[in-house]
Amino acid sequence: MYGGKGHRFPCSALSTGSCITIIRKYLGLAAYVSIIIGTAFLVCCAFWLPDIRLWCKLGELEQKGQSMDSFLLMRQEERAAYDRLMRYILHPQAHCLTMEVLGGKRGRNKKFDGDKAICLEPGPGLSEDCIVYSFGIANEWSFDESIHEMFGCKVFSFDPSMGMEDHRHGDGIMFFNMGIGEFDGKITVTGQTWNMRTFDSILKQLGHWNRTIDVLKLDIEGAEYVVLEDILGKGLLNHVNHLCMEIHLPDNPYWTRVLRLLRRIEEEAGLRHFSTRNNTQMPPMRVPGFYARYEQHFFEMAWYRH
Ligand SMILES: *[C@@H]1O[C@H](CO)[C@@H](O)[C@H](O)[C@H]1NC(C)=O
Ligand SMILES: *[C@@H]1O[C@H](CO)[C@@H](O)[C@H](O)[C@H]1NC(C)=O
Repeated sequence: MYGGKGHRFPCSALSTGSCITIIRKYLGLAAYVSIIIGTAFLVCCAFWLPDIRLWCKLGELEQKGQSMDSFLLMRQEERAAYDRLMRYILHPQAHCLTMEVLGGKRGRNKKFDGDKAICLEPGPGLSEDCIVYSFGIANEWSFDESIHEMFGCKVFSFDPSMGMEDHRHGDGIMFFNMGIGEFDGKITVTGQTWNMRTFDSILKQLGHWNRTIDVLKLDIEGAEYVVLEDILGKGLLNHVNHLCMEIHLPDNPYWTRVLRLLRRIEEEAGLRHFSTRNNTQMPPMRVPGFYARYEQHFFEMAWYRH
């Protein structure tokens, strides 16, 4: 197609008209070649993106001057840290033969969401006059309602995102228009003003400062890390018998930090991890720091006092 006449250059030997035709032909070829090279470049970028991110992180750590070896080693360590975190999350070490799964409903994609596991034996179980603190409702009351119906617990439900005033949701269920945070104050989220309180402020406000909280449910969309750190730091998880928490793995590879925090629940508060359930509302997502590894990022985890 590009052979024959095309080889008889230079242009000056030909008429202006056919010269333009030849230039057009070569421009066509150049377009094809650049499309191919461009695609290859984009594919390479996609594959190397995790490494480029890591490289940037190295810069933050002021290690950029170091050799490529330490960069590769760091990537390896990071992946090992991810595997350690997943092993911890997916393999609870405590067993519970009397596990009760409460609440949850099928989402639009027919997948289950919002179910929480409670262990009735052999720990303290749920006391006669049990108290449940449930953070993050999003108009989904199934857990709060069923724990009250089945065990007669007094339920305190909190959610600042529903635009609802404090009210009695039903028999034994009180709703509060506030969120749990690591400070007392107001924040603005998508135009709404949210009233935030720390766990200790809420305990004091509701007169539960010296009480054991039978179940603490945290379903707070990524804020669980700062809140957990605050509660652990103040030693308040020692007065909680069950912790049911939805965890959202971060978008950055902070695997070691997350694992250290989860371990503190057992080491400092004496709770035992007995259940993890995949929250399959979201499809598996790309794991930061890996080329093409897709895993579940949301889990319903549960700990109890043994
Ligand atoms: C909490 O309990 C301790 C000891 O049992 C008691 O001294 C203290 O006054 C109680 N505090 C409140 C606010 O009830
Ligand atoms: C839960 O998610 C993990 C991580 O993606 C996966 O390895 C495991 O097979 C999943 N388990 C179930 C029961 O879907």
